[in-house]
Amino acid sequence: MTDRVVVAGAVLDEGRLLAARRSAPPELAGRWELPGGKLEQGETPPQALVRELREELGVETEPGERIPGEWPLAPGYVLQVWTARLVSGEPRPLEDHDELRWLYRHELDTVDWLDQDRPAVAEAARHLPGG
Ligand code: CDP
Repeated sequence: MTDRVVVAGAVLDEGRLLAARRSAPPELAGRWELPGGKLEQGETPPQALVRELREELGVETEPGERIPGEWPLAPGYVLQVWTARLVSGEPRPLEDHDELRWLYRHELDTVDWLDQDRPAVAEAARHLPGG
C-alpha cells in the first residue's frame, strides 16, 4: 500500500524561514512545524502546498524545489517538503496555527519543532544565507 503524502512548505522570504505553531490536536499543540497538509484526490504535492498555504496562512506562494527526503508520520502517512517563495500577502495564522515566526538561520533552534520536521528544517537551512 502506498503511503499518503502530507506536504509542507519551507516558505522562504528575505533570508528567513517561516515557522508555524500548531493549535491542534492537543498532542501537537504548541509544537512548531512547516505549514502544510494532506494531498487531496488528484493533486500533485506542489498543488496541494499552494492550496494549504492559501487556506492556512492567506498567502499566495510559488513552490520551488523538493527538499530531499521523506519522513514517516502517523501510520500510512509520510511527510514531503518543498521550498516555497512568498508571492503575495502577509502570512496570518488563519487555520491550524496560533502563532507564526520568521526565523533567520541562527534562530532556527529557538522554537520546539515537531520531531518529524527537524530533518527538513535542517535541510531548509541550506537555502538561508549566513552559514
Ligand atoms: O490540513 P490537513 O488536515 O490536510 O493536514 P494537517 O492536519 O495540517 O496535517 C496532517 C498531518 O501531518 C498531521 O498529523 C500533522 O501533524 C502532520 N504534519 C507534520 O507532521 N508536519 C508538518 N510540517 C505538517 C503536518
